[in-house]
This record gives sequence, C-alpha cells and structure tokens, in this order.
Amino acid sequence: MAQARIGVVGLGTMGAALALNIADNGFQTAVYNRNSTVTADFMANAGDLAERLTPAETVDALVSSLERPRAVLVMVTAGAAVDSVIEGLLPLLDEGDLIIDGGNADFHDTRRREAALAEKGFNFIGMGVSGGEEGARHGPSIMVGGPAASYEPIRDVIEAIAAKYKDAPCAAHLGPDGAGHFVKTVHNGIEYADMQLIAEVYGLLRHGDGRSPSAIGRLFEDWNGGVLQSYLVEITGKVLQATDPDTGAPMVDVILDKAGQKGTGRWTLIEALKMGQSPSTIEAAVAARSWSSAKSIREHGERVYPSDDLHMGPVLDSDLEEALLAARIIAYAQGLSLLAAASDEYGWDLDLAQVAEIWRAGCIIRSALLDPIAKAVRDGLPDGQLILAPSFVDRLAPAIPALRRAAAAAIAGGRAIPAMTAALGYFDTMTTARGTTDLIQAQRDFFGAHGFERIDGGSGHHGLWGR
Ligand code: 6PG
Repeated sequence: MAQARIGVVGLGTMGAALALNIADNGFQTAVYNRNSTVTADFMANAGDLAERLTPAETVDALVSSLERPRAVLVMVTAGAAVDSVIEGLLPLLDEGDLIIDGGNADFHDTRRREAALAEKGFNFIGMGVSGGEEGARHGPSIMVGGPAASYEPIRDVIEAIAAKYKDAPCAAHLGPDGAGHFVKTVHNGIEYADMQLIAEVYGLLRHGDGRSPSAIGRLFEDWNGGVLQSYLVEITGKVLQATDPDTGAPMVDVILDKAGQKGTGRWTLIEALKMGQSPSTIEAAVAARSWSSAKSIREHGERVYPSDDLHMGPVLDSDLEEALLAARIIAYAQGLSLLAAASDEYGWDLDLAQVAEIWRAGCIIRSALLDPIAKAVRDGLPDGQLILAPSFVDRLAPAIPALRRAAAAAIAGGRAIPAMTAALGYFDTMTTARGTTDLIQAQRDFFGAHGFERIDGGSGHHGLWGR
C-alpha cells in the first residue's frame, strides 16, 4: 500500500471527520485511535474511502506508514492528552517531522509546545478548526499558527480540505506559535456572543411576545434570507421548528435551560481582560451560560421576585432583526479589537482581513457580514475600529435605534438581555467623547491620591478635596 501523506491520531467526532475529508481529497491517510475498536468501526463505515485509509494498530505502525518528512495530525481532547500523544510520538519521529495539533488548544499550551519541539528539531503547528462535524467532513475553516516553513509541506492538504469561499480556501497561516489557536479561541468567543444574542431575541419573541417556537423558527428562516444571513441564524430556524419525537412537543421545550461550555469562550474573556480589553458581548455570553447553570437559584429568585406585573411592549420584528444585526456587528468588532491587541502583545503581525476572509465559509460564525468586514479591514479601519469604518457606519447607524427600542421594551418587560445591553453599553461608551470617568479619577485621587490628568494639560495633578 502507498505510504500515507498524513497520519491522524484520534478518531473522535472531529478526528474521524477530518480523516475522511483528507482521504476524500485524494490523500492517503493513516489513522490511529487508542481504542482499536474505534479504528475498526471507523474503517467499517468509511465506504469507498477505505482504500485511501491506512488503519494502524499502534502509534509505531502509524508512523511507519507515513511519507517523509512525516506529518501527524493530533485530534485528541485539548490539554494533557495532547502532551501525552506528543510524548509517545517523539521517539518514533525524526528531526524535521511535523506534529499538528488540530484541537481547541489553549494557545499558551501551543506556544509552549511549539517552543519545546522546535528546540528538539521537530516542527509543530497549532491549527484551529471550525465548523463542527459537518465542517470537518466537508470543509472547515482552518486557522494555522506556527513557523510558516513548518506549514508549507502540508499546506496543499490543508487548503484542499478547507471550505471554499468563491474558490478561495478558508485556511491560512496566520502567524507564529499560538496565533492560530488564539484566533480560533476568539472565533469561539464571537460564537458565544452571537449564540447568546440570538437566544435573547428568541426569548423576547417566546416569553415576551408568547410566540410558538415554530413561528419563531420561521421568522429566523426568513431573516436568514436577509442582512442576518448566517450559519447560526440558519440552524436556529431549523432548531426551533424541530419536534421531540417522544412527546410531540417543540424540541427546545424539552431541553433543560442550562448551557454547557468547554472553555474557549471563557478563555477569550480571560485573555482579553489580561490585555486590558473588555469584549462586553462575549463577557455577557459567558456570564449567561454560567448563570444558566444556577437553575435552582433562578427558580427560587422567580418565586421571590415575581414579574407577572411586567409586560414587554410591542416590538416590531424588523426592529429585532436590526437589533440583532447591530449587536452582532459590535460582537465582531470587539473580537477584532481583541485580535489586534493580542497581535501586538505577542508580535504575531496578524492580518485581520485575512482572518475575516477565512471565516467567510466553513466556520460556525460564517455570515454575510464577513466579506464586508474583510473589505473594510483591507481598506484600513479608522482608529482600528470596525464600528468607525464608513461601510459599517452605514449599517450600524440605522440599526442602533432598533437596538435601543428592543432593549427598552425588554427591560420594561423584565426580560434578561445581557448581551444586547452589553453591546449597546459599549456602543454608547465608544461614541461619547466626554464620558464619566472624570468622576472615577476624582474618587481615586480622593481616597488614594492616585493623581489625574487635567483637560488643560499635564498629569499627576491632585485635587483639594476639602477633607
Ligand atoms: C467550532 C466550534 C467548536 C465547538 C466549541 C465550542 O468552531 O466548530 O466552536 O469548536 O462547538 O468547542 O464548544 P462549547 O460551546 O462547548 O464551548
């Protein structure tokens, strides 16, 4: 049998789908899973692709079946498992061979692994893959980080398996060491924000306006034909129209309202805060998931503070559509600012237009906005801000009043919309030249003699506070 172009370690959902995608694109692919039954089942279900797949019983056998220089894609759970797979591979590999971590790794781990492996003469790249199982199988968005030279030997494979936006592969080498995994992490932060914003709009229609899930699903389906066109709005339309086969009830009605998270949204926030960034929509989305898990407290709270006397006033569907558009743009804008800050902090020299370009297809946050975002970034963002780009001012300015109307109605009705209000709070702050932190500075100086800058110049001033 022909030597394999690449080996895949880990045949979980994403690893299996990627292996099939690689084989489907004509590359002989060696596969290994710690549990050989998983490998056997995978092969049994591979159909015609089985001839392009080389199953290996051991890591040793996997490595032996690879062309040189070897390339091994590690698709195991992020964290310690990755280190343990790498440790097992190293004695079997030669200098110049390549290990690719395709999981949702913490970019700090990627930086550490890349540096440690480079010292030993091995190549390592951290590769963020977005698109879920379907994307992995038929075309994900792929965010690569590591030395550019390490990516070169495998670039044709990665570009072949990636989603295409008008023939352009949604895969790119974005920068050194952890750049790819960091961009994937921020992608997920935006994903959390977008999902939360959609859920808030659903909540207003469902609980505020009393509409059925299927009616709301049809509305999302309609919206998906307009300015909100996106994967997440599309699947929301489908999800809301689905029925539970056991009870006949709308599927969403039988799902407990406690949201899980594997951590990438939280990591986005942690890293943002460390860099002095506050992507409020992402923060609100992470918080909303955490709060959701406190179900018994929420039930208790509802008994103590009944809200039957609160009523949400009428909100036009078109206002909700525009509100969601405005908040979504703000979430993207905050994500891009965070990427710019990280690029400076870690010396990555990220091309944010390229990031937006490879998010145009394949990934979970793909939407009709990403091509205009990429173009706006290519044209140069005024003050580095998407919300100041002329083409986005044209979108945001008319949509913000709708966001205000939707938020006002929701607040009056006692409906929780933490991400929408977080987006609006950011927008109002960033569009107010003279804010209120003069008072914060005065308070700080009062109790801690922290000093302040005067508007007529100079820093380190202190007030006579009449104490
Ligand atoms: C993607 C997804 C995928 C996964 C995340 C988020 O881009 O394909 O982001 O990576 O859904 O792990 O999962 P959590 O919601 O559990 O954090």
